[in-house]
Amino acid sequence: MVSARGLSRTYVSGPQTVLALREVSFDVAAGEMVALVGRSGSGKTTLLNMLGGLDRPDSGTVQVDGVEVTELDDGGLSALRRESVAYVFQSFGLLPALTAAENVGVPLRLRRTPVAEREERVALLLDLVGLGEHALQRPSELSGGQQQRVAIARALAGSPRVLIADEPTGQLDAETGLSVIALLRGIVESEGVTAIIATHDAVMVSLADRVLTIADGRVDA
Ligand SMILES: Nc1ncnc2c1ncn2[C@@H]1O[C@H](COP(=O)(O)OP(=O)(O)OP(=O)(O)O)[C@@H](O)[C@H]1O
Ligand SMILES: [Mg+2]
Repeated sequence: MVSARGLSRTYVSGPQTVLALREVSFDVAAGEMVALVGRSGSGKTTLLNMLGGLDRPDSGTVQVDGVEVTELDDGGLSALRRESVAYVFQSFGLLPALTAAENVGVPLRLRRTPVAEREERVALLLDLVGLGEHALQRPSELSGGQQQRVAIARALAGSPRVLIADEPTGQLDAETGLSVIALLRGIVESEGVTAIIATHDAVMVSLADRVLTIADGRVDA
């Protein structure tokens, strides 16, 4: 489902050059939940950004669901993010002016899903993440764990093939993190999505089907 070949990415800031990714190659099968682990600065976010087409490698290729991501133009990348790859960020990334339900509905609006169908799917997803009672609250009126669950519901709204999450429990306390992890694990099963999750959380790692370790921009696949 996801295939990376020889990915390299260098950052140049002033006199400094950082080799953030060095010839990274690996494959992730459909329906697999992979934990991406490595210490701070090892290249996890850089790698996830390449997989989701948020950034381009200097060299190497990424294939997602048969699409050569590295060859897409901006329009193609927008379509990829609208249709097959969803992102969950450590900082939730919800739109503050919108209610929980409206946030979850954003990907469906982008796809011009008919209103009735959209509302039905939003209600189903909010129930799935245990927030059916909180549909009309704005992010500022929700706890961190609740906001992250809204972000997960939003990521799933467009029925993505691949879910990319960058430290989704990084800002949550242990217990809340655990409920988000259990939720993600359950969703991978029930929705059949492929998930790649950067994490420092030992429980998340233990529940993953496979662990990819990154150190200094290198992955041992
Ligand atoms: N925009 C940038 N400009 C310059 N250097 C960058 C940039 N983004 C990341 N880096 C560098 O690239 C390396 C990898 O960073 P990255 O954010 O991928 O690490 P990470 O594994 O996600 O770390 P963390 O666990 O702290 O989130 C680091 O050395 C970082 O300083
Ligand atoms: Mg990071």
